[in-house]
Amino acid sequence: MNNRIAFITGSTSGIGASFARRFAGDGYDLIVTGRRKKKIHSLAKDISEKYNVNVKVIIAELSDRKDVHKIIDIISNNRNIEVLVNNAGYGIDKNFHEGDIRIQEEMVNVHINTPMNFIHAVIPQMIENKKGVIINLSSIASFLPIPTGAIYCGTKVFLNKFSESLSMELNNTGIKVQVLCPGFTRTDFHSKLNMKRSELENKGIIKWMSSDDVVKYSMKCLERNRVVCIPGFWNRFLVNLARLAPDKLYYKIVTKI
Ligand SMILES: NC(=O)c1ccc[n+]([C@@H]2O[C@H](COP(=O)([O-])OP(=O)(O)OC[C@H]3O[C@@H](n4cnc5c(N)ncnc54)[C@H](OP(=O)(O)O)[C@@H]3O)[C@@H](O)[C@H]2O)c1
Repeated sequence: MNNRIAFITGSTSGIGASFARRFAGDGYDLIVTGRRKKKIHSLAKDISEKYNVNVKVIIAELSDRKDVHKIIDIISNNRNIEVLVNNAGYGIDKNFHEGDIRIQEEMVNVHINTPMNFIHAVIPQMIENKKGVIINLSSIASFLPIPTGAIYCGTKVFLNKFSESLSMELNNTGIKVQVLCPGFTRTDFHSKLNMKRSELENKGIIKWMSSDDVVKYSMKCLERNRVVCIPGFWNRFLVNLARLAPDKLYYKIVTKI
């Protein structure tokens, strides 16, 4: 590998796989992570054949410090890493007090501690190169708290504010920071939560997007130097509507849905 590299976590499916295809299409070699071995290796093969790029697959559990540190050893001091997408993530379908606390701690690791460590490892080279892109996957759930989302929404809020502060700290370094906040996106995220097909339909102002469209909009935000990036008109509408609603009214509506 001696080309510029995009390092994308959680590329087995969904938004991470779309980012992998997009950056490979732009000529980047890739380092991708996932846990479903067969699926990610098959994606890597497809991508490297279609776009003629190198794809290195790392099978890693990103809540596990040992796995994370193995990756840090690979990415730190790698001057070719031009793009980092902290994409890996998942949902929980239990109220906070009913869920296993260890599983909730694991989510804090995957959504917060691991991205923080990867970003810290790549920034020095990016600063030296005067160039870099860091994209952190948040969600519109960071603006729209829901029951069963205590840790999910909370960790995504962290990513929003962390990314905004980081973007200001890195102003004039040539590094762009984006926090990408998709809404309802058709990926494997919902099947992992055992959601029914009927729950994945457009309903009123809830409009589902494809992961490719989410990534397309993320690229647009990068071009426009937009730090907080919310793909989809209806998602932006929903976020703004929630911002306008008094808290008590919001809680009443959300707990009744
Ligand atoms: N889909 C949506 O509606 C939606 C909306 C807003 C934000 N997001 C965010 O978008 C990101 C990507 O999700 P997606 O919708 O594309 O879902 P997805 O298709 O399920 O992909 C999630 C990726 O993250 C990896 N991952 C999850 N937990 C992991 C762990 N503990 N250790 C290592 N890797 C892990 C998965 O690996 P394996 O599958 O190989 O285990 C997979 O590659 C997430 O951060 C999610 O919170 C999604």
